Parts: sequence; C-alpha cells; structure tokens
Amino acid sequence: GAVGEPLPHESAELHVTGHALYTDDLGVRLQNVLHAWPLQAPHAHARVTRLNVAPALTVPGVVRVLTADDVPGLNDAGVKHDEPLFPTEVMYHGHAVCWVLAESSEAARLGALAIEVEYEPLPALLTIGEAIAAESFQGAQSTLRRGDVTLGFEQAAHIFEGEFEIGGQEHFYLETNAALAHVDEYGQVFVQSSTQHPTETQEIVAHVLGRASNEVTVQCLRMGGGFGGKEMQPHGYAAIAALGSVLTGRPVRLRLNRTQDLTLTGKRHPFHARWKVGFDEGGRLLALQATLTSDGGWSLDLSEPVMARALCHIDNAYYIPHVEVHGRIGKTNKTSQTAFRGFGGPQGMAVIEDLLGRCAPLLGLEAHELRRRNFYQPGEATPYGQPVRHAERLEDVWSTLLRTSDFEARQEEVRAFNAAHPHLKRGLAITPVKFGISFNFTSYNQAGALVHVYKDGSVLINHGGTEMGQGLHSKMLQVAATALGVPLSCVRLAPTRTDKVPNTSATAASSGADLNGGAIKDACEQIKLRLADVAAGSLGALAATKVGALGVHPEDVRFENGRVFPVGHPELGMDFRQVVHDAYHLRTQLWAAGYYRTPGLHWDRNAMQGEPFKYFAYGASVSEVEVDGFTGAYRLRRVDILHDVGDSLSPLIDLGQVEGGFVQGAGWLTLEELRWDTGNGPHRGRLATQAASTYKLPSFSEMPEVFNVALLERAAESGVVYGSKAVGEPPLMLAFSVREALRQAAAAFGQGGHETYLPSPATPEAVFWTLDAARQTA
Ligand code: MTE
Ligand code: MOS
Repeated sequence: GAVGEPLPHESAELHVTGHALYTDDLGVRLQNVLHAWPLQAPHAHARVTRLNVAPALTVPGVVRVLTADDVPGLNDAGVKHDEPLFPTEVMYHGHAVCWVLAESSEAARLGALAIEVEYEPLPALLTIGEAIAAESFQGAQSTLRRGDVTLGFEQAAHIFEGEFEIGGQEHFYLETNAALAHVDEYGQVFVQSSTQHPTETQEIVAHVLGRASNEVTVQCLRMGGGFGGKEMQPHGYAAIAALGSVLTGRPVRLRLNRTQDLTLTGKRHPFHARWKVGFDEGGRLLALQATLTSDGGWSLDLSEPVMARALCHIDNAYYIPHVEVHGRIGKTNKTSQTAFRGFGGPQGMAVIEDLLGRCAPLLGLEAHELRRRNFYQPGEATPYGQPVRHAERLEDVWSTLLRTSDFEARQEEVRAFNAAHPHLKRGLAITPVKFGISFNFTSYNQAGALVHVYKDGSVLINHGGTEMGQGLHSKMLQVAATALGVPLSCVRLAPTRTDKVPNTSATAASSGADLNGGAIKDACEQIKLRLADVAAGSLGALAATKVGALGVHPEDVRFENGRVFPVGHPELGMDFRQVVHDAYHLRTQLWAAGYYRTPGLHWDRNAMQGEPFKYFAYGASVSEVEVDGFTGAYRLRRVDILHDVGDSLSPLIDLGQVEGGFVQGAGWLTLEELRWDTGNGPHRGRLATQAASTYKLPSFSEMPEVFNVALLERAAESGVVYGSKAVGEPPLMLAFSVREALRQAAAAFGQGGHETYLPSPATPEAVFWTLDAARQTA
C-alpha cells in the first residue's frame, strides 16, 4: 500500500521551484487590496496617554487607521482574555498600538510614522531574575509530586544542588505571520491565515467582530513553517485583517516583515531552574526537588500547558522515585512566549540532562553510564502516574546505537586525541529521548475529516490538520490511498478550512498524523463498508459468469491498488471505478465524515496526575565535537541517531523530520541567542537580535560533518494509525548530545573529576569561558 512508501513531500516540487503559494501570495492576485502596517511602541512598558491618528489620514494612500474604538466585539486577541488587540497599556517594546490601512504597505508605513502618540513610561521587568525578585508571576502554579523527597534525601549517599538557565528560541519560520481577509456579498468573512489552529483563529476573529463562528471561515493552504509559533500568535493578525476588511469593504493583506515578526511575536520560553538531587551509592536517582520558572512574557498565551509539559518531561528517560517539582510562570515585559517544537518538554529535559552531565564526574561515573543506570525499567511509571510502556525500547535503542556508532572505540580515539592535543579537545556523548505523545489537554485529542469519492472514482480528502512543511498532507494522502485501496494518484487533498471540518484542534503536539489519520481512516472505512455491499453483489455476479456460482460476502471483499476482489481471488476482481459507478446508481452515499478521538487518556491538571499520553516516542543520539581552546569555536564532527517512529507512514518524510528537528535543537542549544536590552537606557526592553545578522541560525557550516540517521526497525505501535508514531517534535531533543559532548570537550581542558557548568546556549563564547574555567583546575 501507499503507507510506508518512501515518497517525497507532496509539495516538494512546488517548494523548490517557488511555485508553492503561501497566504500572502494569494493576495497578489486580488484587486483593490489594502495593506496593513502596525504602529509599534518604543517602550517596554508604558501607558498610552494620547493617540491622534488624524495626521495619518493626510498621508497619500492611507485609507483608515484601526484603533480600539473600531472593535465591534471583544478587544482581545487571545483565549485568556489578557491580550488586548489594541492596548492602552504598552506591555513590551514593539507592542502594536494601532494599525494603518493603505493602498500600499509603504503608504501604510508612512501613515504609521505620522500618527501622534504619547506615552507615560512605566517600570519594566525584563529578565526571569527580575520577575522572580518582584514576584511577578501569571497563571496557575503547579506541582508535580511523587513519593516523599525528604525521605529520598535521607536515603541518599550523594546530594547536589544547582541552578540552570536556559535561553529561549526564535521560530524563524521562512514565512512570517500573514493574513488575508475579505468579505463576501452576504457580509461573511473569509480569512486566509498562516495558522496552525484555524478553528481558534476563526473563534478569535468572530469574537473580535462580535459575530458567530458560522459567519467566519478560516483557510490555511500551507505555512512556510510554524514550529509552534503559529499555534496561537496568528489570531490577532487575522483579526486585524478581518476587522479592516469588514470596515472598509475591501480585502486586507497583512504580512509582517521579518523585523516586525521578530519584535512582535512570542518565542520559546526561557527557563530558570533551581534543583536539588539525591543519588544512592550506585548513582541511581533517589530524589529530585526543583523549581522551574519560565519567562512567559507579557501575556499568558500557552504558558500554562508549556509548563505542564516541562514538568511532565523533567524525568526524560529516568526513573526517579521521589519527586517534587514546582512550576511557575514569570510575567515580564517581553513578547508573549509561546509554543515551540517540544512545547516545554525540551526545557524540562534540559534540566535533568544538564544535571546528569554535571553530576557524573562528582559521582565518579561516566555520563553515559550514569544515564543508562537510571533508565526506566518495564513496569515503572512516570511521576505523574503513567506506566512507561515499551520502556525496554530505551535499552534497545541505546545499546543498538552504542554499537552502530562504534561508541567505545571512538571514546578511546577521543582520549588519545585529547592527550596529544593541548589546544584542541574532542568530546563524545550519548543522550536519550522519551517524549509523550498526545495533548496534555485531553479535549484536544480529537480530529475530523471529510472524504469524497466522486462518480469517476477519484477521491478528494479534507482534514482538520494544517501543513507547515512537516509532511502531514503527504501522510494523509498515503493513509487515504491505503484505506480505500486505490493508487495514490487517485487521491487529491483540498486546503484546510473551517467550513469543511469544524472544531479542529491545533496541529501541534506532533499528533497531526495520529489524529487526522485516524479521522481519514474512519471516513474511508465507512465508504468502503458501503462499497463492499455493492461489490459483493457485483463480484458474485461476475464470478458466476467465470467460475460458476461463488457467493461473496461483503466482509470478504478486498480493496487494493484500484482493484476490488473477493479475498483469495484477485483474478476475479473489478476496477474500483466500476464499483463506484455501480454504487452511485444503486444510490449509495459515496462520501463520509470521519472522526477520531484518542482512547484511554485522562489528566487531572490540578493534581498533575493521570495518563495524558497515548504512548512515548523513544530515541537516542551520539555526537562528537572538537573544541578550539583559544576561541571556544567548535565543529560537530559526527552525529548518529536512532529514532523510534513506530512503523513509519512515510519514511522519507520522517527522516526529514528527524534531521530537521535535531538541527533545530542543536541551534537552540548551541547557537541561537536572543538578546534583549536589559540596561536602564532609553532602549530598555528592545530586542537586540532583530535580524539573521545578529541571531545566528544553524547553516550548512554547522551541520554535522557525518550525519547518520536511522529509524528503529520492527517498532509497530498498537492502537494507532497503521502502527505509526508521531515524529514532529521528539527529535529536537536528540540535540542534547551535542551540548553534552561540548561539556565533555570543555572538561577535557581541565583535570577531570569536577563539575563543568556550561551555559545554554553553548555558544563558542560560552564554551570558551567554560573551558577556561576547566583549565583553572588543571
Ligand atoms: N516541520 C516543518 N518542516 N515545519 C514545521 O513548522 N513544526 C513542528 C513539527 N515539524 C514543523 C515541523 C512542530 S512544533 C510540530 S508540533 C509538528 O511538526 C506538527 O505537525 P504534526 O503534528 O503533523 O507532526
Ligand atoms: Mo508544536 S510546539 O506542538 O506546534
């Protein structure tokens, strides 16, 4: 069948030839379009004391300025009612105060410059440290608990304490946030939006306009990357475009330029952790007590569920009997930090991986040995009470990868190399990943689909998931082709729209294929059931003419590759098209709505207990680095990855996800550094890294020189679509091995046996100071 075939992305050719259309491209074809431009405030925190938009209206081409007075519904762009779309209090540097609509974006820009606005600056909090000191928190605080940490520490032979700060990350999707709205002759609103969550975009547009959801349709053709950054952030931009369109009767095109996108939209949450850990004589974890504080920025956004996922991943692959981890969300005058691949999971895991990397030498153990000793064993459960099913896979992945990466021999080579090179040191590290799949928020684990079979036998599918480059649509085409037993070429996919499939969940939590695949399969199976009834009759009649009477029961009809036949008798088959034709004339419904809900999930978010995940995705990676002792500059010499995607729906897509996720993780941990002006000068709160020139993204020169990626074999998962597992986020966390290899290399400049503190991101500068500190121990 089509499922499991290594096929390229369905739009790969369009992507690489520049023919793929994105939201803003669709606006190029529209007549009479207006362009939107924000007026961004130059203060991190201030009250707007005067706003006079009249001068903007004298600028040639300016048509209208949108302000709070124009909002017919709710002046709010979020789901927590803490995100005024047009604020009277500026909450972060660059906050959009109002929006100008004009005939061109240049005219709109000049219009924004002409607006007279006065501010009364207010004190601003910029860092997590400042937020903690001021006790500036937002949203619910939560605690994950198991056992009794006091008892655990009493039993411990070794107790260590530490602190760790983890930097945020800019999504830097290729396509910036964009929306395009117009109003039809009935006054109904149609919004094209680059959004991972069309239903929520629809709901926010509706509440801003004071309309019902059935008057607003949101479509997402595709995104040029989302990475979580378009899970919640696009709503406000869609609402601005829709509002402008309703008020002017003209289409409105809104596309942030890169600087606007960087300064307006939220990023991965920076985290601060303070921890205390206890080990027994053998290096086994006994107790972990920690407080995680995230920097949520100015509004809550997705900060609560991000923190929940951080707490649910602080264990990563390790069994810890006694746990008490407290999570709280700082409120600062920065962009509203949001979902980013891994959704807090990476920050939680960073804490334990960092801690193990630091403690291993103090325990006299090699880091990889310390990690392995603490793996979950079959039958053990996470601190939130979920049994770790398939825990044996951790050991399996680990030992296979140690072998295929030639770990032991290379460890010897690294030792020999380091002994011979005083100013160059190598490091080799292996780290595991265990990542929970499903939304912690149980209600989100549902999906819908619409499958049409036309009279000519061609198939059109629609589902609630969005395409952001991850290959979801490719997989869904493969699922439909396999489920209906038709060639892939017979199936077409139509863009995601809220008027086709309603009440959809965000395409997020890596669960797009699990959920929407389940819904598509359900729709296809309904249709197949009806077709089988028809085919049983037709095939029976056909058989009678060829081999004599052969009763065919509907349950024994098979659909494969465009042919329909009685089980065991492919030679007695007929074309799918013929069956469809017959079915239509017998008045059979040839289309179906499909639905899927993930069974067996439950989660008590106050107690932080339950079984929030359908299953865990497992993986491990080995990285080897070489560090220059004069500059801290490093090379990533080789990376080996073994990752568990179950039975892959689409192996080429999955390989791409593993590679891309790893590289994005390595960028976060080693290169990408967000800098805000935290001084007390006039630019306090300004994002200093406003462009690719100051924000270093991974590029070819930082790719591993040797990069071996393999998918775990014979890994079929039960109770999910065709045995497959989600792949979107887990590979990002494979990048911890790069950080740990850098720690090892830096430590090799010193005596050994000491804790090596490595900041995150481990930029060359940070690595230099780390190795310089290690040198002091030599
Ligand atoms: N891959 C590409 N190319 N572009 C993206 O924006 N987003 C990631 C991941 N892979 C992303 C990507 C994130 S954050 C998630 S949650 C998943 O894809 C979402 O898609 P899925 O549920 O279909 O895996
Ligand atoms: Mo992904 S961070 O769940 O959009």
